[in-house]
Amino acid sequence: MPNLTTNYLGLDLKNPIIVASSGLTDSVEKLVELEENGAGAVVLKSLFEEEIIMEMEEQMHAMTSRPYIYPETFDYMQEEPHEDILRKYLRLIEEAKAALSIPVIASINCVSAEKWTYFSREIEKAGADAMEINLFVLPTDMNRSGEENEKIYFDVLKTVKDQVAIPVSLKISPYHSNLANMVKKLDDMDADGIVMFNRFYSPDIDIHNLGITNGQVLSHSDDYKNSLRWIGIMSDRVKCSLAGTTGIHTSESIIKHLLVGADAVQLASVIYKNGPEYIDILLKEIYSWMEDQGFENIRDFKGKMCQSNANDPAAYQRVQFMKHFRNFIMH
Ligand SMILES: Cc1cc2nc3c(=O)[nH]c(=O)nc-3n(C[C@H](O)[C@H](O)[C@H](O)COP(=O)(O)O)c2cc1C
Repeated sequence: MPNLTTNYLGLDLKNPIIVASSGLTDSVEKLVELEENGAGAVVLKSLFEEEIIMEMEEQMHAMTSRPYIYPETFDYMQEEPHEDILRKYLRLIEEAKAALSIPVIASINCVSAEKWTYFSREIEKAGADAMEINLFVLPTDMNRSGEENEKIYFDVLKTVKDQVAIPVSLKISPYHSNLANMVKKLDDMDADGIVMFNRFYSPDIDIHNLGITNGQVLSHSDDYKNSLRWIGIMSDRVKCSLAGTTGIHTSESIIKHLLVGADAVQLASVIYKNGPEYIDILLKEIYSWMEDQGFENIRDFKGKMCQSNANDPAAYQRVQFMKHFRNFIMH
């Protein structure tokens, strides 16, 4: 039987299939089922900074609308403002660690660098094996430069890394002024891993009622190409771990990611569609492909098709259809 072990963020994973942060990973019962079906690791549902801030504002409002409040109540709220949501999250980490033997990665969703000093330390104390930072602010402010927006990533990474000893990864979007430079800078700052690329909620338009509707929640099986390209371009140029995410639905797209140099993949949509049992099917298909190819370990083929090893490295840079598709005919 081929060996599927891989190292991601310095953690030993029995295989490269990680269940991505989502509603699939928000309770111990679900996590146990994912492990039983073969998951190599899990990323817990994110702890959202915005939710914590909203909770804090509600508490503040409740306090200030009382006829009399003690001044020290405010001090307490400023120091320990987020107990409820945070405490629940810490309990999930503790219970997950007690119930599972695979690595448990906590996920924090940040919009700023300020709050994460206290939260990060608590998450580490609760026993998380690593921490994934999920950070994206839609760059709609015309008065902010790309550099100012990107500084938030570096500030958050530095704040969190200064507080904890566990590995810290960033789950990023592809929308940066210079993606290769951004990835290099995060790597230079000793990010332990980069997850490419998060999938975001997109609004849509209902043309009959002229209203805003929700876009498609789950990804499509063809959406993996962007992470494939960028992991292929970056994998032998950075020292940190790389994980692919978005649109990875089949054993074939998992194998492709490993071939371009990914250390692991993160899956959500396909497990929402097919259930946790699908992980076992994917693993069996990967075993079978490795046997057919004569590969005993993932390291026998990982990175074999990254840009610098590929027979046509220029294909990774090609973005225009140009002459290659001049004779393309549609029937
Ligand atoms: C319903 C749903 C909830 C999600 N919640 C989170 C979240 O809390 N934090 C996060 O970092 N990503 C979240 N994601 C993104 C997933 O972790 C994953 O990166 C993304 O869906 C792309 O993978 P996929 O194509 O396999 O779904 C969510 C995705 C879905 C579909």
